[in-house]
Amino acid sequence: MNKTAIYPGTFDPITYGHLDIITRSTKIFDNIIIAISNNLIKKPVFDLKERIELTRVATLHLKNVKKILGFNNLLANLAKKEKTNILIRGVRTIFDFDHETKLAEINKQIYPELDSVFFLSSKEVSFISSSFVKEIAKYKGDTKPYLPKEVHYALLKKLKYAT
Ligand code: COA
Repeated sequence: MNKTAIYPGTFDPITYGHLDIITRSTKIFDNIIIAISNNLIKKPVFDLKERIELTRVATLHLKNVKKILGFNNLLANLAKKEKTNILIRGVRTIFDFDHETKLAEINKQIYPELDSVFFLSSKEVSFISSSFVKEIAKYKGDTKPYLPKEVHYALLKKLKYAT
C-alpha cells in the first residue's frame, strides 16, 4: 500500500533545514505532499506563488515529492482532503518539541486519524530558520550555506542585492 505523508510549513523560503526533513521523509514514505501555508501573519518576503516555485525547484531531484500546494485553511482539513493521515514535522530543539506537541494534539482533535511523525533535524542544519536566513541576507551576509542555490539567488534578487 502506498504511504502518503504531508509536510507543512511557511517555507519563506525553503532552507537546507527543510530539505533535510523532506529528503529523509522520501526514504520512508512513497509520496510526499508539501503544503505551503499562505501565513500572511508572518508577513512573508516571498508570496505564495514564489514560495511554491522555489520549493518546486529545490525538490526537483526528489522523485517522491508528488505535490506542492499552497493552502489557506486548517492543515488537518487539508490532510483529510488530500487523503493522508500522516503529518511530518521537524524538531530542532526542545522549544520546537513543546510547540509541536500542542500542534499535533490540536490537529488530532480536528482530524482524529491524523498522526504526526517527527524527524529530529540533522545537527548540521538544526540551527537554521527562515527568519535567521532572511536577516543574514538583509545585512548582506552570505546565505549560500543555508539555502539551495536557486533560493539563495532568488532571495538576493528579492532584496535587490543581486549583482
Ligand atoms: N529545519 C530548519 N528550519 C525549520 C525546520 C527544520 N527542520 N522546521 C521548521 N523550521 C523553521 C521554519 O523555517 C520557520 O522559521 P521562521 O519562523 O523563521 O519562518 C520556523 O522554523 C517555524 O516553522 P514551523 O513550525 O514549521 O512553522 P511554519 O510557520 O513554517 O508553519 C504551519 C506552521 C503552517 C504548519 C501551521 O501554522 C499551520 O498548520 N497553519 C495552518 C492553520 C492550522 O491548521 N493551524 C493549526 C490548528 S490551530
